[in-house]
Amino acid sequence: MPGLVIVGAQWGDEGKGKVVDLLAQQADAVIRFQGGNNAGHTIVLADQTYKFHLIPSGILYRGKLCVIGNGVVVDLRVLSGEIDGLRRRDIDLSGLRISANAHLIMPYHLLLDEAGEAKLGGREIGTTRRGIGPCYADKAARLGIRVQDVLDEKILKQKITAALEPKRLTLRDYVKDPRLDLRQMTEDYTSFGHRLEPYIADTPPIAWNALDEGRLVVFEGAQGTLLDIDHGTYPFVTSSNPVAGAACVGAGVGPSSIDHVWGVTKAYSTRVGAGPFPSELHDGLGEQLREAGAEFGTTTGRARRCGWLDVVALRYAVRVNGLTAVVITKLDVLTGIDPLRVAVGYVGPEGARFKDFPYHQSVLHAARAETVDLPGWHEDISQAREISHLPSAARGYLDFIEESLGIPVVMVGVGPGRDEIIWTDGARQLSAAR
Ligand code: IMP
Repeated sequence: MPGLVIVGAQWGDEGKGKVVDLLAQQADAVIRFQGGNNAGHTIVLADQTYKFHLIPSGILYRGKLCVIGNGVVVDLRVLSGEIDGLRRRDIDLSGLRISANAHLIMPYHLLLDEAGEAKLGGREIGTTRRGIGPCYADKAARLGIRVQDVLDEKILKQKITAALEPKRLTLRDYVKDPRLDLRQMTEDYTSFGHRLEPYIADTPPIAWNALDEGRLVVFEGAQGTLLDIDHGTYPFVTSSNPVAGAACVGAGVGPSSIDHVWGVTKAYSTRVGAGPFPSELHDGLGEQLREAGAEFGTTTGRARRCGWLDVVALRYAVRVNGLTAVVITKLDVLTGIDPLRVAVGYVGPEGARFKDFPYHQSVLHAARAETVDLPGWHEDISQAREISHLPSAARGYLDFIEESLGIPVVMVGVGPGRDEIIWTDGARQLSAAR
């Protein structure tokens, strides 16, 4: 031990990548456990910017074990591109491991995602169009192609044929599309197999061995709690489980291997794609947050919807994930907004008041946030490296979050750079545990 799970406490894009990257320095292994290249994170290191969609944060530390777990869905074209990009920049990839059991996003999954959204028209989910949903659907239907299958051309061809059969009707508009050519697909994926073979591994033992030796293992989640297919704002969700429980399934460890669960939240809220968002701001303040926080998707470039921090939703995230601590990112983006508002309850369509996150989608879709005002601050906080360096209003904002959630704030982001972060003693102790 210790096993530490890092999850998004909101609708994704909370800045988990930077947090995992910082913790990775002390960890033996970082293991991504769900999602695919619908996720994206940016790490700013010195004057260099790195963008990843699949490779776990932590790869920038030489030789660090960075595992793409069995719960992840992998687009080999994207992964191959990321590997090439890192090699060009001389980044050591010797620690990269890809689970042989992870499922592959195939070219037809991209077409099915596109076709599915087109069919929904105005009711579309606003997916990232990366084929995530259709790939997880094939996994559940037992028609999935797994990483290990690309190592055997004959099996691969049989499996692709079987997977395509039930999709004929939906894909009939694409029959002449070269992306659906069976021979070409088999050839392409076999050659990916040759390239990636050195990285393909039986990955759960990596976690078991490190944990047995008392090393820190970081389980890296993608997306966020409210995009969870079971616990999020269904159907406006992703097709996997971004909640902490999925770390066990998606990495191959038992619940007793998890000692800490940290939820990452921005100091405000954002969401991409459609679906309920009770504390959303539709006015100039929403615009101001979008500009100040550069709230445009890493994966699709879409403008993110912005709103106040929502402690109703966060308290829900504390419960469904069993959060032991919270990390606040982008506190600096709130500088100059005074007063600050925080959603502390919802008012439903018929005037009913909710203190807890409503389970019923009709209520949630029409819910408005009830907010309280907290004092803002105007000082530049990007140089703060201790909580005590922050202006009293900023400390008051963090205190309010801790009291509302009943768990400690362990880290606070005050700027985009790797060093623009406040470590509390709790975070220092954990990352020093080796
Ligand atoms: P999918 O995961 O591409 O199927 O998209 C389903 C929903 O999840 C859409 O609302 C997406 O915008 C959202 N989504 C997926 N991945 C992310 C992410 O990494 N950050 C934020 N939203 C995401």
